[in-house]
Amino acid sequence: MITLKELYKPRVYQIDGKLKISSTLPDNLSEIYHENTKMHASDVRPWLVPLLPSGLSAMPVRTFFQRSARSYKKYQGYPAVKLETADEPATPGSLWDIIASRRCKRDYSDSPIRIQDLSRILRYGYGKTGRFCADGNEVCLRAVPSAGALYPLDIYPLLENVSDIDNGLYHYNIEDNELERLRPGSFLKKIYQLVQPSNNEWIASAGAVLFITATFKRNQLKYGDRGYRGVLLDAGHLSQNILLGCTALGYSACIIVACLDDPVNDFLNIDGVEESILFAISIGSPYIEKTNNAK
Ligand SMILES: Cc1cc2nc3c(=O)[nH]c(=O)nc-3n(C[C@H](O)[C@H](O)[C@H](O)COP(=O)(O)O)c2cc1C
Repeated sequence: MITLKELYKPRVYQIDGKLKISSTLPDNLSEIYHENTKMHASDVRPWLVPLLPSGLSAMPVRTFFQRSARSYKKYQGYPAVKLETADEPATPGSLWDIIASRRCKRDYSDSPIRIQDLSRILRYGYGKTGRFCADGNEVCLRAVPSAGALYPLDIYPLLENVSDIDNGLYHYNIEDNELERLRPGSFLKKIYQLVQPSNNEWIASAGAVLFITATFKRNQLKYGDRGYRGVLLDAGHLSQNILLGCTALGYSACIIVACLDDPVNDFLNIDGVEESILFAISIGSPYIEKTNNAK
């Protein structure tokens, strides 16, 4: 059996001309992971040179950019719904007000989410917002910052009550700004207990649940084990963008990290190792207080 001590790889570092080594032995896996993936002066290299996981041979910069130019997933052969790119005029609201009024909200009415709004939430959540050319490859830039512009995340919207689109499990195709329909049907009432195993009835009335997955190798091809930190940071950027987008458009939304990982991975038909669920975001129309002015 491997002990925690055997997993720990202490590194010597220099400070004020003196060599030092961390004196505290981590006593759990997360501390060991954090220690083993600290950045040291000897790790610093020009930004074009990938920090390769040990054991892999050096990757030519050209190959790296070819791979990073395809840092997204597409499902070929599934029916796809093109999302709008022309925005309706935005509701006035300052960024500061939107940030201050964002709350995780867990009650949803039965009014559908408008497909135009969902489209905007996805595009400004994680969609393409720019591009640059690298060694002959066009690399797209997105609505979130991402380590190495490698964008390891994917969004699988489960649509349950969205106007003008059939219910089903979809994948958001970043490159073409489309929703690929992986499985038609209404699933939420059958699987909401996987999204959060307790105190969960409110999830069943969401208009949509976005499942956010990570394909770790997209990031780790450059950053190795340390890249796992970046994947989780990217996830935070994406989730805040989506929550603020929902707030700006008047929807209620909540981030949910209590998912049962393996059953959700099975539901999404992903392997849970190369690509795995990180969290979900439920979205729905808010309850509007009904005023009775009738005389
Ligand atoms: C990493 C993370 C995990 C969370 N997981 C859940 C969850 O599984 N279920 C849930 O109902 N809320 C979850 N939340 C929402 C928090 O409960 C909520 O953000 C917190 O109570 C602060 O409230 P506010 O977001 O309305 O400001 C999570 C939030 C974060 C940032």
